[in-house]
Amino acid sequence: MVGETDHVLDLGCGVGGPGLRVVERTGARLTGISISEEQVKTANRLAEEAGRADRAVFRRADAMELPFEDGSFDAVMALESIIHMPDREQVLTEVARVLRPGGRLVLTDVFERAPRKTPRHPSIDKFCRNFMVTLADADGYVAMLHRAGLRLRGLLDITEHTMQRTFEELARPVEGADRPEALGQTNLPDLFHPSDMLGVDEFGCLLVAAVRP
Ligand SMILES: C[S@@+](CC[C@H](N)C(=O)[O-])C[C@H]1O[C@@H](n2cnc3c(N)ncnc32)[C@H](O)[C@@H]1O
Repeated sequence: MVGETDHVLDLGCGVGGPGLRVVERTGARLTGISISEEQVKTANRLAEEAGRADRAVFRRADAMELPFEDGSFDAVMALESIIHMPDREQVLTEVARVLRPGGRLVLTDVFERAPRKTPRHPSIDKFCRNFMVTLADADGYVAMLHRAGLRLRGLLDITEHTMQRTFEELARPVEGADRPEALGQTNLPDLFHPSDMLGVDEFGCLLVAAVRP
């Protein structure tokens, strides 16, 4: 749990929703980064509107090369963001560098659940292509954290509470607007639709907690 004296880094902050909730609930100071200038502008506007701009600042930066001093954060969160970044180990190495000793990391990631099928279910590849996502190697996660300078504190399969629920919810028919055809996108055979993933049990979501020793 972070508190008022802590400085949290939100890695891949989107438009700031989760980061602003952390500020609201804990009183922590937060810096959010995104590769998207547009998202950063929106996040700063939303922080202003929520009266949190004194505690939450968003800026454009690349998680592969963080523009922060060593040991400058008490905690790092990376929700649904490392999945889009070019090199997980490089990102985690940067996270370890900017965390103070004893500082903690929490992130979510996607992976293939056992038993893995060969060939992989085509909907997984479609999802990854559509959303520019890569899958983590769950078996190698602990070693990767270690090489990056972090130590595992917990690793949990949260698929049932996250991805599967999201796909089920999004796949529910909404009259006139649920299928790509309804949006006029008839010539896009590779377009992912949430219903493609229903029953694809091998696509999973991980919650990872780690500490910088
Ligand atoms: C799916 S969004 C998640 C946003 C937010 N964490 C949330 O849960 O609502 C992925 C985020 O990662 C950011 N991102 C992707 N690659 C990045 C990189 N190399 N450096 C920093 N941010 C990156 C995107 O700009 C976006 O903000």
